[in-house]
Amino acid sequence: GMPPRVTIWEVGPRDGLQNEATTVPVEVKLEFLDRLAAAGLTTLEATSFVHPKWVPQLADAEELLERLRPVAGVRYPVLVPNERGLDRALAAGVRHIAVFASATQAFAERNLNRGFDEQFAMFEPVVSRARREGVEVRGYLSMCFGDPWEGVVDPAQVVRAGRNLLDLGCTQLSLGDTIGVATPAGVERLVTAFTSAGTAVAELAVHFHDTYGQALANTLAALRLGVSTVDSSAGGLGGCPYAESATGNLATEDLVWLLDGLGIDHGVELDALVATSTWLAQRLGRPSPSRVVRALGG
Ligand code: HMG
Ligand code: MG
Repeated sequence: GMPPRVTIWEVGPRDGLQNEATTVPVEVKLEFLDRLAAAGLTTLEATSFVHPKWVPQLADAEELLERLRPVAGVRYPVLVPNERGLDRALAAGVRHIAVFASATQAFAERNLNRGFDEQFAMFEPVVSRARREGVEVRGYLSMCFGDPWEGVVDPAQVVRAGRNLLDLGCTQLSLGDTIGVATPAGVERLVTAFTSAGTAVAELAVHFHDTYGQALANTLAALRLGVSTVDSSAGGLGGCPYAESATGNLATEDLVWLLDGLGIDHGVELDALVATSTWLAQRLGRPSPSRVVRALGG
């Protein structure tokens, strides 16, 4: 059944801002993080320690963390693809990281410059060293439902890739619909395939993009199966620069509205969050795509 409480894994500062055409000034990023924490979010994916040429929008990761005003009780995970990224993250004092794999060969090549098997070989020393250092490691898996180059992705292949990440030592697995093509039946099929293969539902998170307007329906399907960690992005920002047609993430405001209606606890103050997304939309120069922000925002 449905969980009594959901952890919202806020990815706006990372998945959101990595896809902006222009780089957002570090002061704006810092204020965004402060405002998200003040709105009650307790997991803020802050940035990525990836190659600065690949994602110039997040090239200020060191400066951002140096100037971050961390709030007690809030964790600030960052993306790390390889050992060089882990060195940088550890030097910046990071305590939570996420590695990010692809369920398909085509996207592993485009996003990581690695083949399907090679990506896990790249992550292996990252995950083992991070765990030895007491750092929490989330594993993302992209293209879990469909891939722009390979089409429909076989759930058995997704389960194999996801099990690889968990077997490396990832403590959580986030199932990504990178291009937003999933529908609830596919979500049910995939979550059930994982639990049938021995993965506890508590180890799973879901990460939906809203390209086809299915993100909330997909979230509801996952909640009904007991998934209790949901990724979302304030104001519905987001996308991956290396995935064709990866548009915005599920908006955190839309998620909060759904959870409120279901009576599921989440700890977020909706008004403060809408005000934050409205403020950021002004800085980005375009309105938020979130329906809830548009309904409630000024
Ligand atoms: P590569 O070019 O193969 O790198 O890129 P390399 O290992 O061959 O190294 C080449 C040079 O880059 C070396 O320098 C390294 O030191 C340097 P040199 O010795 O030649 O002077 N280098 C680095 N510098 C800084 N930080 C680093 C780093 N690594 C190497 N971490 C690499 C391989 C993985 C680095 C590259 O492909 C990359 O950075 N990819 C990141 C792409 C990305 O961030 N995509 C978006 C995030 S994923 C996503 O959005 C999906 C998600 O939201 C879930 C979903 O929606 O599905 C998570
Ligand atoms: Mg994403």
